[in-house]
Amino acid sequence: MSCVQDWPEPIIRVQSLSDSGLDRIPDCYVKPVTERPVVEPVVTDRLDIPLIDLSGLFSGDPYKVQVTREKVGEACRVWGFFQAVNHGVPPDLMDQARQTWREFFYQPMKEKQKYANDPKTYEGYGSRLGVEKGAVLDWSDYYFLHYLPSNLKDHCKWPAQPPHHREVVEKYLSEVVKLGQRLMKVFSTNLGLEENYLQNAFGGEENGACLRVNYYPKCPQPDLTLGLSSHSDPGGLTILLPDHDVPGLQVRRNDKWITVKPAQHAFIINVGDQIQVLSNAIYKSVEHRVIVNPNIERISLAFFYNPRGELLIEPAKELVSSENPALYPSMTFNEYRLYIRLKGPRGKSQVESLKSPR
Ligand code: OGA
Ligand code: NI
Repeated sequence: MSCVQDWPEPIIRVQSLSDSGLDRIPDCYVKPVTERPVVEPVVTDRLDIPLIDLSGLFSGDPYKVQVTREKVGEACRVWGFFQAVNHGVPPDLMDQARQTWREFFYQPMKEKQKYANDPKTYEGYGSRLGVEKGAVLDWSDYYFLHYLPSNLKDHCKWPAQPPHHREVVEKYLSEVVKLGQRLMKVFSTNLGLEENYLQNAFGGEENGACLRVNYYPKCPQPDLTLGLSSHSDPGGLTILLPDHDVPGLQVRRNDKWITVKPAQHAFIINVGDQIQVLSNAIYKSVEHRVIVNPNIERISLAFFYNPRGELLIEPAKELVSSENPALYPSMTFNEYRLYIRLKGPRGKSQVESLKSPR
């Protein structure tokens, strides 16, 4: 694992900077010109990622199950991203989970600092990813915690406040895990694999799972920076609960950035690098990034459904042949994750660099 013990520079909370009312952002948040977002005019019927109603999966009607599966399969192959409604997670619980995390970030700094994280585990309250001195930073703070496997879950590292916080987060995560399990079956079947293939490859009952809550404060110069730089998610699949009505997430489609318009009580779901590897690139983990707003903050809960850290992940044998050789070497998720943890978010450079020459 990482031998880096501490951050290379003193940590500045972006929320405190934003609250101080400054009208120019410090240089360390200014992105190179080529990475800066182009703030697009508001168009109502612009291109967006697919929106899929998952109720067919629960219907018990084989035809509806099949039609829904196919929609998911197409979205994973073509976009690597989709929004899901009627996904089985109660809408009230989604609202409560978002609200309790918002209240966490609204607490006095002293309360939040009790959970300040370090680059050994990243667990707790953080403001940077990557440990390179002098790196250009993102305009966000976050909270990171482990949920599965259960031996990694430590409630003492979860915020104790606001009241009922741990209870709500626990309930929310138990429901989101069920959605993750269901999607793993849909993905396996769509790829022509046995229904439990991906779940078994992730470690069976006790796969890995963690939560990263992103807090993007208002930003006086949103055209110069990003809330989260371009990256693909290193894990298996991501189930993201975005903020109500506040856009921010952009997905790469060829050379364009598509701004996702969140639907009511929808999750934004995307394929991560480990499923790209297991599917031998039939499914793609697509680059995405987050832009920030001048007048409004944004919060999002990114739930990562991952393989257990110590298992070797490699292209499924069933998907490899002499015409379709394995594109990636096998590697554990722990080894894989070190890269993003050392370097910070860097587009798709890691999964691409692993590709074997053909
Ligand atoms: C992430 C992520 C997007 C968002 O946490 O990996 O891509 O909208 N978040 O916050
Ligand atoms: Ni992401």
